[in-house]
Amino acid sequence: MFSGAHGQRQATIALARMNAANNNQPIAHLLNPTMNNPASGFANPAETWNQRFDRADYLFGTTPNAYLVSKAALLAPGQRALLVADGEGRNSVWCAQQGLQVDAFDLSPVAVEKAHSLARESGASVDFTVAGIEDWPWTPDRYDVVIAIFIQFAPPALRAKIFAGCIRTLKPGGLLLVQGYTPKQLEFKTGGPPLAEHLYTEQMLRTAFAGLEILECNEYEAEIHEGSGHAGMSALIGLVARKPVR
Ligand SMILES: C[S@@+](CC[C@H](N)C(=O)[O-])C[C@H]1O[C@@H](n2cnc3c(N)ncnc32)[C@H](O)[C@@H]1O
Repeated sequence: MFSGAHGQRQATIALARMNAANNNQPIAHLLNPTMNNPASGFANPAETWNQRFDRADYLFGTTPNAYLVSKAALLAPGQRALLVADGEGRNSVWCAQQGLQVDAFDLSPVAVEKAHSLARESGASVDFTVAGIEDWPWTPDRYDVVIAIFIQFAPPALRAKIFAGCIRTLKPGGLLLVQGYTPKQLEFKTGGPPLAEHLYTEQMLRTAFAGLEILECNEYEAEIHEGSGHAGMSALIGLVARKPVR
């Protein structure tokens, strides 16, 4: 009934729908139990993201984010890295290709399935998990590097919990890398959420990460081409910060 990669994704969604019907639950709940959390920005975030990712190509492309690549010199083989809300795997796969030991998670089973395919095709090894960020354990002092690229689905209260989790899960001396859009992106409209409260400013990030040593926190404009999801002149912000050694 289902064939090829697209067919497999259809099968993932169909199975979730069938299980939902059998258990008299909304499909969204089965795809992820936290999905009806209104703090996630959509009524059914997993369903919404699954539908966005249910396409033959990669919504955000297969090449890694340019800001992340520009920080390659800060990364070293053997480091343990966490890729937060990693989507279809472009950034986690690149990190694995740099020799890092990579864990990655995302809410969308469809995205994670595509990420598995990308890793397989690239000969990269990534430990992928389907998980809502609300459920991620943020194990203390576990990672040398935490990478959060375009995770602006979170409104302020959830964002504060995510940022606290990122700090907690970094080892002392570990590095945090963040890329996002600034409010000026509402004029460019070339990607990102159309919600001002989800966007980052330099002051916001400097305040949120005041407990870290901020190595860089810059707002800038650049043209980016990350699939059809992020395409064109964009108002961006990048942060690099180090967790102090106790
Ligand atoms: C703009 S995409 C960015 C994906 C990836 N970081 C990248 O740069 O290619 C945002 C990602 O957040 C994921 N997401 C949305 N809500 C989430 C949640 N509550 N928990 C975990 N991931 C979530 C989506 O599935 C999507 O993959």
